[in-house]
Amino acid sequence: MHDPELALAIAAAHAAGAVLLRHFEGVFEVETKSSPIDLVTSADRAAEAVVLEALRSVHPDHSFLAEESGLSGHDPKYTVLPGPGELRWIIDPLDGTTNFAHGFPHFCVSIALCDAVGPRLGVIHDPIRGETFVAVRGHGARLERNARPGRALAVSRPERLQQALIATGFSYQRATTRDDNLAEFCRVVPRVCCVRRAGSAALDLAYVAAGRLDGYWEYHLQPWDVAAGALLVHEAGGQLRRLDGAPWQLGCADVVAAGPTLLPILLGELRAARIEAP
Ligand code: IPD
Ligand code: CA
Ligand code: CA
Ligand code: CA
Repeated sequence: MHDPELALAIAAAHAAGAVLLRHFEGVFEVETKSSPIDLVTSADRAAEAVVLEALRSVHPDHSFLAEESGLSGHDPKYTVLPGPGELRWIIDPLDGTTNFAHGFPHFCVSIALCDAVGPRLGVIHDPIRGETFVAVRGHGARLERNARPGRALAVSRPERLQQALIATGFSYQRATTRDDNLAEFCRVVPRVCCVRRAGSAALDLAYVAAGRLDGYWEYHLQPWDVAAGALLVHEAGGQLRRLDGAPWQLGCADVVAAGPTLLPILLGELRAARIEAP
């Protein structure tokens, strides 16, 4: 499929990935944001500048929602998705900052192009592994390795929770909210094959799309954490819901993602955890 916007997004993600790798192997600064555990590095900012420059130089008429610089473009009020007829790029220049800051090699660049309906293309690039996960609405999802076209992605279809490898995450707000995910985590751990907390929501979703993970859930996510990953899951045959089972759309802060066989089972366990929580 030839799509100039997709080629642009992949090029921007690769350029930002190269910036991340240079910082990761060299020197970078670390600061805190909303709390002592919410980190930002000079690499987050440098990668975001590279993505914005690459996209803006081709599409000065689009708007941009990027984690470190917020919303820019012609829309004066904050809405996650653009208005009818408009296009908006949603960018997480470094998803997995805590990993990055500790030298733990699991992080990515996430870029989505959205219209008023939702994400129309998504690119998640892991510069450490040279893997680029790509999805285009209505055209499926695929994994490219070292810039070579790769295989189509499809979610897994386990029949039982006990067979499942599941990912989750714990947000920076966990100390200040009831939705700290601990009740859900304790409920799920003994019922599945294993749980992973790898530290990048975007890669968690990309791995669900690739069938490497059977499911994923998390609270308190931001649009840039999930915009590209949600499209990848959807285009790989998976489903997304809110934790109470309601339909999920970009802007919802909680998400459960899995293939069609596992999603209702996982949702049932997460619901049971909430009912039982003190
Ligand atoms: C974080 C990661 C992490 C998730 C957090 C996100 P960041 O994004 O995706 O896995 O648990 O909720 O905020 O700050 O590294 O871009
Ligand atoms: Ca993120
Ligand atoms: Ca980030
Ligand atoms: Ca962050």
